[in-house]
Amino acid sequence: MAKEISTVKLWRFNPDVDREPYYRTYEVPHEENATVLDCLNYIYEHLDPSISYRYACKIGFCVSCLMVINGKPGFTCLKIAEKEMTIEPQTKKAKLIKDLATIFAED
Ligand code: FES
Repeated sequence: MAKEISTVKLWRFNPDVDREPYYRTYEVPHEENATVLDCLNYIYEHLDPSISYRYACKIGFCVSCLMVINGKPGFTCLKIAEKEMTIEPQTKKAKLIKDLATIFAED
């Protein structure tokens, strides 16, 4: 049984259908020491399968899960979830695909 609940506000934008970005908020139950990525996976699996985000290695190596968490860049696979989180895409040197999913742009 989950011990904690985080309020997770996600930046959403689908360039194919949305005119403007917007935020959607989710209540996410999780275990103590769950990562931000665990919360995103919960949202995707239980609350809203329409969210887009990327991850691969889950050990802080591949950079695909880099996002802006409460205003600071961080790897969602390593960062421990906080009670209140706003998660936005990291678009510095990266191209937005959809929602939180980005891909590093060629220089
Ligand atoms: S999933 Fe690879 S750095 Fe987080």
